[in-house]
Amino acid sequence: MILKGDVVTELKRLVESGIRVDSIVTSPPYYGQRDYGENGQLGLEEHPQQFVDRLVEVFALCREVLKDTGSLWINIGDTYWSGKGAHKSGEVKQGARRFGIRPQDRPGDGLWARPKQLLLIPHRLAIALQDDGWLVRNDNVWVKPNPIPDQVRDRSSVSHEYVFHLTKNRWYYYDRHSVGRKMPSGRLLPPLDTWFTNPARGRSGHRAAFSEDLVRIPVSATTPPGGVVLDPFNGSGTTMAFARRHGYRSIGIDISAEYCDIAADRLKAIKERDDLEE
Ligand SMILES: C[S@@+](CC[C@H](N)C(=O)[O-])C[C@H]1O[C@@H](n2cnc3c(N)ncnc32)[C@H](O)[C@@H]1O
Repeated sequence: MILKGDVVTELKRLVESGIRVDSIVTSPPYYGQRDYGENGQLGLEEHPQQFVDRLVEVFALCREVLKDTGSLWINIGDTYWSGKGAHKSGEVKQGARRFGIRPQDRPGDGLWARPKQLLLIPHRLAIALQDDGWLVRNDNVWVKPNPIPDQVRDRSSVSHEYVFHLTKNRWYYYDRHSVGRKMPSGRLLPPLDTWFTNPARGRSGHRAAFSEDLVRIPVSATTPPGGVVLDPFNGSGTTMAFARRHGYRSIGIDISAEYCDIAADRLKAIKERDDLEE
């Protein structure tokens, strides 16, 4: 089921309809990275605190839709404050700079939001979610083996993002057999919290898509067979595509009609291939 609309409105609709999901696996817009060209879109708030506050509100609604035994997984990357003023060059290499003035190009508050500052958005979000009642189980690090290098001379080039695993309760569904590492001795070790995988590189038609490999552990470990996965920032439907291929049901929400169509076509193609193979 794909719902086209604002995430808060659609989540409230799910809450009211009594639908409950087993897991939530998602990647919200990153702060100041992209203009999706939609009224009400997240990610372009003037101050990063407003962005964090809006996401906490979204995930509070997610908590209502999530079963008590469920898990929430959030993939999010960080942002530097630049304070440079409007971007003037015609550079088109970085999709992030295709729109005029980004929030982080403004003067800022001189404290947290000041030039060259790594905003630490992922962990600030995780701490805000802890304060709102979530239990943080892991800050998994997604390592990108071959990233496009940052054009900088005085710091390291960023090559990782985070995938937070959060739960409502101490006890929750977790199928360690589907994601564990089998040792030659037969012993099963838990998966590591560093995941080495390449980004999707636009194959899905979405500029900020994650890869099916990135959602493998989240979906397989915390969704019972045949269970329901929700992606409230569905984009091109990567979570749904993985779910469909592996026998789970799924719900996606996105504000963009274009991305909802891309996701629907992607799921249809998987179904047609499965029908052919049967
Ligand atoms: C990082 S992308 C998700 C990409 C997705 N994981 C994929 O693999 O394609 C974030 C998505 O959030 C959507 N979005 C932004 N603001 C929204 C809002 N207020 N309500 C619903 N969706 C929103 C954007 O349209 C975008 O597709």
